[in-house]
Amino acid sequence: MKYSKSTAIAPANIAFIKYWGKKDEVIRLPLNASISMNLSNCLTTTTVEFSKSNKTDTFALLDGKNIVNDNKETEKVIKHLDRIRKIAKLDLSAKVVSKNNFPKGAGIASSASGFAALTVAASSAAGLSLSEKELSILARIGSGSACRSIPDGFVEWRAGEKSEDSFAYSLYPNTHWDLRDLILLVQNTGKKIGSTKGMENAFSSPFMEPRLQGINNKITKVAAALQRKNIQQFGNLIEEETVNMHAVMMTQNPPLFYWSGETIEIIKEVVMWRAEGLDVYFTIDAGPNVHLFFEAKDEEEVLRKIKSFNRELKYILNKPGEGVKLTDKHLF
Ligand code: DP6
Repeated sequence: MKYSKSTAIAPANIAFIKYWGKKDEVIRLPLNASISMNLSNCLTTTTVEFSKSNKTDTFALLDGKNIVNDNKETEKVIKHLDRIRKIAKLDLSAKVVSKNNFPKGAGIASSASGFAALTVAASSAAGLSLSEKELSILARIGSGSACRSIPDGFVEWRAGEKSEDSFAYSLYPNTHWDLRDLILLVQNTGKKIGSTKGMENAFSSPFMEPRLQGINNKITKVAAALQRKNIQQFGNLIEEETVNMHAVMMTQNPPLFYWSGETIEIIKEVVMWRAEGLDVYFTIDAGPNVHLFFEAKDEEEVLRKIKSFNRELKYILNKPGEGVKLTDKHLF
């Protein structure tokens, strides 16, 4: 068996129907299904090489010219390599180098794109040829939302009852609907509690049970709005879902307040722009950044509005993205 150096590029994704809460924390089985879109402009590239000349596993994250060594991150990467080595019956250490095209500390979660890229690069480097479904399952065990960064475009993650049936698949390719996701990078204030830790206490919120009762209905409605490319139906649903998840977060014990003052200011602006006839809608994950969704035809107008709201505000503009890909442009 020949082990080759492999490199994968994976997109981050943003959920329309969110994943918040697990029924199995070890293998990351979610309480509910979710729907997301890959982001064309938030990418992680990862190169993996298994070789006798590696004494131990090493993981380096390149941030511009610097190498960021994060022990907690390295531990998670090694655990994931172990899963892949077990499947491939491989006993070699790996060198792993990874790079994000979005700045560290911008509040863009890199775990989805990171684990999707690592899964695909490491399994290819280990000589495995896994199906999209198998890759999605494996990525899920690294970080739940990573399973949605494997397939192309607009994606549904089936909740499933056991590991083999909890995976993501493409609902529509990235070319299905020319949407935009403008991520507004809001300053993070206060200590950040990550999603893994945060969702452990989801059931301490009195709103969690009702949230789960209504979620399958919402999944069906979002899928239908996506199919019809109906921006108003789609937009109203993703906003309703965002506020619903954040209501759970804010009423957990201990409570999680991910929004900052600027997050609320932006929400209010968006509601006002809509009253003036502009079809723009928001969604927010476990942080203060606001993702604005609108159709390509409104891009210029939304950018103009944002600049007159706050000229200093940094942003990343995304289109619907493809799924994970192998490339021969290695990082080392
Ligand atoms: C709020 O996938 O980061 O972004 O499975 O514990 O690694 P782990 O959690 P993670 O959670 C993402 C939560 C979310 C909503 C979503 O992306 O669906």
